[in-house]
Amino acid sequence: MVWTETLERFPYPFKEDVYRYSNNSVPMENPISVEMNSRYVEEIKLKRQLLSDHPERCFQSLPHSIKAQWEAAALVMEQLAGAYPETFSLKKNGREWTFQNKTLNEMQSFTYGDTASLDHEPLDFVGRHVQEDLILMMQRDGDLYLDAGQLCFPANWSLAFNLGMKFRQIHHPIPGFKEEGLDSRILKFLLRLESGVPWERKNWSLMAGDRLDTSLETFDEWGKLRKTVTRDNAGEFVHLRIEVQKLFRLPQTHSILFTIHTYVISLERFCENPEWKRQFYEILKELPPHITDYKGIGRYKGAVLAYLEEQL
Ligand code: HEM
Repeated sequence: MVWTETLERFPYPFKEDVYRYSNNSVPMENPISVEMNSRYVEEIKLKRQLLSDHPERCFQSLPHSIKAQWEAAALVMEQLAGAYPETFSLKKNGREWTFQNKTLNEMQSFTYGDTASLDHEPLDFVGRHVQEDLILMMQRDGDLYLDAGQLCFPANWSLAFNLGMKFRQIHHPIPGFKEEGLDSRILKFLLRLESGVPWERKNWSLMAGDRLDTSLETFDEWGKLRKTVTRDNAGEFVHLRIEVQKLFRLPQTHSILFTIHTYVISLERFCENPEWKRQFYEILKELPPHITDYKGIGRYKGAVLAYLEEQL
């Protein structure tokens, strides 16, 4: 699942030599909620396998989210058909719609708004055609609630645990987020999000190994790999994990579609860009313990720094 495309296409996340939590959201240049790349078929196969093996882990929804799910699914299908017409098409005849995925050779006709006309709930249906994880935040009483989501590639969190939670509750585990008032500032920003003006941000982390499914529920399988990182294997074994996260306001239900596209690259490959290598070394060396610990890097940070120093 590692990066095989040119480095120029890799979503490099850093702006400065020092990293701190902030609202690093920016207006989107190319306003599309989902993106296809050369890993498409492989990742869709993996997603569908995870959904079939672990349905509760990978899809959760509350009954009142159905209307917003339809609106989110429509946005994604329309954008897919618009951006990738050689792969996707969406034909509408009133409420009778047909969605076609030519890469997977699949065609689905359904009645828009009638969930019984699909095999899955709308968000779960459309999520099976995109590499992104899809989260639906519904807005009411001046707050945002995680009321539905399809999540196959989480960075160490649990959808089943977070279902129904408010934005600030979800972000409660992040050290300093509440104390610095960041959670309230970001919530305020999100509550004001306008339809037609989508935003995006990048999140980053390091991981031992390259698996996309790093759910909280499977921590015992992948967390222990952190103990096996050494200066000698770090280049191949340690991966930088980037999430490109996009925020779209859905005008009818006034909810927010939050999409997460996860990219993974080995340190070795990442270091082929000398400026990235230099900047990431500076960032990691200076990273305060509360962020290092939260991201789970503490145990092998020394080995990674030693590897990077050797490369510089
Ligand atoms: C509105 C949709 C969003 C959802 C559903 C969401 C969800 C999450 C979740 C589940 C986590 C992991 C928390 C844990 O440890 O259990 C997280 C982490 C985080 N979120 Fe969000 N988030 C959203 C938007 C944002 C925005 C707009 C920002 C803007 C700055 C943000 C900043 C962060 C940061 C900095 C972390 C810590 C990540 C790390 O250090 O690796 N989130 N988020």
